[in-house]
Amino acid sequence: MIQQTLVLIKPDGLKKSLTGNILTRLSETKLEIVAAKIIRVSRELAIQHYWHLKESPFFEELIKYIQGELHGRKKVLTMVYYGEDAIKRVRLLAGATNPEEADSISIRGSFGRITTKGIYENVIHCSENEYEAEREIKLWFKPDNIIYDVYETEVKELKNIKTKVWKKNENENK
Ligand code: PPS
Repeated sequence: MIQQTLVLIKPDGLKKSLTGNILTRLSETKLEIVAAKIIRVSRELAIQHYWHLKESPFFEELIKYIQGELHGRKKVLTMVYYGEDAIKRVRLLAGATNPEEADSISIRGSFGRITTKGIYENVIHCSENEYEAEREIKLWFKPDNIIYDVYETEVKELKNIKTKVWKKNENENK
């Protein structure tokens, strides 16, 4: 079944310069990257992403972690992988959520750790199932940021929306 899944390389992965290594490992899935961007994660986005864990005792630490406050790297590399059985293929290479239980050759087993406060610093996030993949991809990406319409879209005309654009050079069009 053709699927899409959200992959985040978290602040610890970026701090440890693991991006190349992780991308190389994920290339074994033979999936296609259909979207990628570096994001500074707002508290609002972090809370929405982990909303189902709101009541857990580690929630606030989890929010600080994904916002990069524990690693001095306030960014996350966020991607959408697309192709046959994308969710299962990525999760297989990522390994178990708990890095101490993850297979030692998996990404999390190789590079993850558990902090003294009990937080899993497991280097990457990947969607758990199709329902979560859709919720997460729609949260992190706009349709225009993904090269295919992986979910149904509609065109809306937005009026009076302010947006940042590139400032023209002084000499341009002279
Ligand atoms: S649940 O409740 O297990 O179904 O939640 P799940 O969807 O697997 O996501 C749990 C996310 O919280 C991160 N995290 C921890 N989970 C459990 N115990 C501890 N101590 C903990 N610390 C952090 C875990 O890594 C999951 O986030 P992602 O980004 O998916 O790895």
